[in-house]
Amino acid sequence: MVLSLKNKITVFSFLIVFILLLANCSGNSDKVQSEQSDKKEDCSKPLNPNGDSELALLMRKMMHTSESLKEMIKQGNLPKEFPEEFLKIHTAQPTDSETKKESFDAFASNYISNMKLLFESPKDELTKNYNAVITSCVSCHSEHCPGPLKAINKLKINE
Ligand code: HEC
Repeated sequence: MVLSLKNKITVFSFLIVFILLLANCSGNSDKVQSEQSDKKEDCSKPLNPNGDSELALLMRKMMHTSESLKEMIKQGNLPKEFPEEFLKIHTAQPTDSETKKESFDAFASNYISNMKLLFESPKDELTKNYNAVITSCVSCHSEHCPGPLKAINKLKINE
């Protein structure tokens, strides 16, 4: 079949449109995928125009502190000072105002009282009391924010 010049141009422009469409679609699906995996990592909204929330930043500190507590306690050391700033858990603003459900304060108090117990504990109860703190992270997260649960569970010390 011999195509006239006009037909050749038409076929060619169809091809270009087709290629552009393909490129655009695959671009989109990549974006959707990365948004979904972001969502799995934590429970804050994938795109937060106001930056990280006060509560999210506090949680990251709590995560780091727990990691260093874990190392200290595994070596049999008592932590020195109670991290007073964690008392802000009750008032810190979350990413989404609906994140803090009614039960939030009870879970938060449970976490704080377990932390206080840990900082007062005798040497032979450090591991047990530390794991109780991590259990209180897990209980709140099971209801409020399941995303980081896997990372939080890794903080436990095998007894
Ligand atoms: C009283 C409930 C509660 C307790 C207790 C709690 N969390 Fe959270 N955590 C949350 C909520 C709600 C968010 C979501 C914050 C937001 O999106 O603003 C969160 C977010 C996080 C995040 C993600 C932060 C980010 O980068 O967005 C990590 C990590 C985390 N928590 C770890 C911990 C650890 C470790 C503990 C215990 C030491 C803990 N949490 C205890 C409710 C809790």
